[in-house]
Amino acid sequence: MYHASVLLHESVDALGVTPGGIYVDATFGGGGHTRLILEQLRGKGHLYAFDQDTDAAQNAAEFAHEPAFTFLHSNFRFLKRQLRAEAIRPGSVQGILADLGVSSYQLDTAERGFSYRFQADLDMRMNRQEGPTAADVLNTYDAEALQRMFSELGEVRNARTLAQAVVRSRDIRPFQTTGDLTDFCEQHLMGERMRYLSQVFQALRMEVNDELGALHDFLKDAYEMLAPGGRLAVITFHSLEDRMVKNFMKAGNVEGELDKDFYGNITRPWELITKKPIEPSEAELKVNNRARSSKLRIAKKK
Ligand SMILES: C[S@@+](CC[C@H](N)C(=O)[O-])C[C@H]1O[C@@H](n2cnc3c(N)ncnc32)[C@H](O)[C@@H]1O
Repeated sequence: MYHASVLLHESVDALGVTPGGIYVDATFGGGGHTRLILEQLRGKGHLYAFDQDTDAAQNAAEFAHEPAFTFLHSNFRFLKRQLRAEAIRPGSVQGILADLGVSSYQLDTAERGFSYRFQADLDMRMNRQEGPTAADVLNTYDAEALQRMFSELGEVRNARTLAQAVVRSRDIRPFQTTGDLTDFCEQHLMGERMRYLSQVFQALRMEVNDELGALHDFLKDAYEMLAPGGRLAVITFHSLEDRMVKNFMKAGNVEGELDKDFYGNITRPWELITKKPIEPSEAELKVNNRARSSKLRIAKKK
């Protein structure tokens, strides 16, 4: 199986799909959320799905016969530009869904280099056509940038020690494979081994794919593209992402700074549908362990 969709019904229900409307699945992956949205559209209206990964793009062939569906092989940070190229105007989309992070397929395919469980080149790019690989990041960033990455994106406790050790180690032999990184981490472990490796690999993955930058651009575009009353549903797997989404839905910016109008009243561009995020049920966690850190937030554009 390519990917088991997380919070599938909760997130698609959140969009309140109405046949005839225009919807966006920003993270197509294996197409689980797309399938359900298309079922609810019943051939009326349109669904635009994004994914920057060529392997995910191949899954979209399954829906090629569907006239209400268009796949856009693109980073979702270009949401507005891509939709405008499809003649979709800002303010005309009824619902946008994003299910962030990587798919099980990406994690479980050894040669993609996302996982410490396999031996492969240290790649980690979702879009293999561009950008630095994880090896490039480790071999070129200065110690300060590496420390920031390990600390902010991975919450690695000994980020400074690790960053300085990366710089020393790569001068002797550059990092090339997942095995190089895993062996190196073994010498600097703090706390539980698997947790430590997950944190280091996650930090690198988020940096390689500029995941926070892409989310920032996406949220701004999503607001512009939605019609008044349109819904935004975002599933996150990382506390920094969840904070960005929470702030954006509260205040209209990822910093969460509230704006005031001429009369001093706080302006809120969104109506919150979820005050607290929706988390997976016990039943879902039993069958899909990868759902464990997921959080769904939903808001309606005012
Ligand atoms: C968790 S999976 C989505 C799974 C999907 N909802 C399903 O039910 O099968 C995330 C997908 O989003 C894609 N992705 C992540 N960040 C992206 C971005 N900035 N632009 C486009 N695609 C992205 C990944 O390549 C991956 O295929």
